[in-house]
Amino acid sequence: MMVEEQPRHRLGTVVCTNDGPNVMEFSFVLEGGTNETTVRRGEFVVVETEFGTVVARVQDLVRTNRYFQHAEAVREYQSRGEPLRSIFPTDRWQYTVGETRVVGFWVNDRTVRPFTTVSPGAVVRRADEDMLAKFLRLDTEGGLWLGKVANHELEFRASIDQLLSKHLAILAMSGAGKSYFVSVMLEEIMSRTEEQGRLSVVVIDVHGEYSYLKDIQPESLGLPAGSIEVEHIRGSHIQIPVQSLTAESLSSYVAGMSGVQIRDLRRTISDMRNQFKEGYTLTDVINVVKDDETISKNTREALVGWLFNLEDTGLFGKEGVPEMKNTVRPGKITLIDLSDFVSLKKKQIIVSHLAGELLYLRRQGRIPPFLLVLEESHQFCPESRQELALPKARIETIAREGRKFFALLCLISQRPVKLSTTVLSQCSNQAILRCTNPYDLDHIGRSSEGIDRASLDAITTLEVGEALFVGETVSVPTFVKIRTRRFEPQGNARNLTEAIKKAEK
Ligand SMILES: Nc1ncnc2c1ncn2[C@@H]1O[C@H](COP(=O)(O)OP(=O)(O)OP(=O)(O)O)[C@@H](O)[C@H]1O
Ligand SMILES: [Mg+2]
Repeated sequence: MMVEEQPRHRLGTVVCTNDGPNVMEFSFVLEGGTNETTVRRGEFVVVETEFGTVVARVQDLVRTNRYFQHAEAVREYQSRGEPLRSIFPTDRWQYTVGETRVVGFWVNDRTVRPFTTVSPGAVVRRADEDMLAKFLRLDTEGGLWLGKVANHELEFRASIDQLLSKHLAILAMSGAGKSYFVSVMLEEIMSRTEEQGRLSVVVIDVHGEYSYLKDIQPESLGLPAGSIEVEHIRGSHIQIPVQSLTAESLSSYVAGMSGVQIRDLRRTISDMRNQFKEGYTLTDVINVVKDDETISKNTREALVGWLFNLEDTGLFGKEGVPEMKNTVRPGKITLIDLSDFVSLKKKQIIVSHLAGELLYLRRQGRIPPFLLVLEESHQFCPESRQELALPKARIETIAREGRKFFALLCLISQRPVKLSTTVLSQCSNQAILRCTNPYDLDHIGRSSEGIDRASLDAITTLEVGEALFVGETVSVPTFVKIRTRRFEPQGNARNLTEAIKKAEK
């Protein structure tokens, strides 16, 4: 006999509850007797109505059986040694109610907000994958293949415009899979063709965990040889050109330079720019300040002290290394590996310099649109004022203004509560992975619109590698199982046992 297509997708029937069905919620009783159809929590279901398709997410499943409603009676039969099951047809009286939350309507090929309610007695069906892809606004053709929609067999292909063009924040506790997700995303960005348009990416790699990308063979991603360009730059090779620095930017690298000191330094620098046509070093500035009788003795000593401190970092020189305007190119990934540095201050100076430089060059149209990936971003743009962080102002500027000319941020943090709210609220997209800290959850809940209590609760139960996408990437908050990487770094120990065994050899 031919199995009809429709009944297979039938899950159950809408029932009346104390306050439902209403616009935002409805419950349905699952079909089938003892062999109930399987419905999963988190799954999308649909109800067809005369005005369009109602799409809802299963929030909970409640099972009841009237034979077991009275503890007294159950206990009585139990003590007699006669299970209820052997006397009454208890199985036939078991049923399950699926509680759902309406996420949107699909009307005339468009996602719209819920505006009316389904009727009791309406048939609830499994969401069809093609319709779901359209409803969620996935880009099934040219999108970045990041994983699969949880509880469905639907590939999660995010449109690059929706995912990246208004900044992305990736938030989760340590070990939840943030960096792994970034490497999956980078694989996808690298795999784009010239016709699709290739984004340039600058990764601030605080722990040196992306340096393996330079070993990626294009063939392993199914790409022609030579089609991937990854440049690995060690932090210790970076040199900030002193000539490009104003007194204000120099003062931003030290804490507490006074107005008078900045004013005198500004004059010194503007004189030096005319005098030293070939560029100059901090030592040159120090010498000029030392000999400048027009500056008061106190100011001179203070300035020389600040400048010596900066000189000590070894980060400044005559020329800029690397020259960002020649480094950032379409389709290229530039890794700024800061794993050599212990000092947070040095890392901050570099990030501050790069963020400023990238934004400046992009504004002038001298580099292509870029994505700046910033690991440990709470260290570079913290919320608290006490923690002095040099790059904060610059990153906030990119967050506020960058989207207009496609200077884009991808911020990663395991302590969202410590991350600047200004920056976080500018990220129109968030990928939230497992997170159990109540303060962080609270912060995430407050800084992202459209995330409801139930989704927030679900974040604590996510597994490693599962993410909730909120924002413009998808039409409604969506849980995604991030795919495995196509290229696995070699030689990294996966766990403690492996690491200690390796150390023995
Ligand atoms: N999508 C995934 N598929 C398979 N394994 C994964 C996935 N995501 C994460 N993992 C595993 O979990 C480990 C930890 O992930 P990852 O290093 O990305 O965590 P993290 O969130 O960046 O942590 P931290 O905040 O400490 O940097 C990975 O090394 C990998 O083994
Ligand atoms: Mg990480």
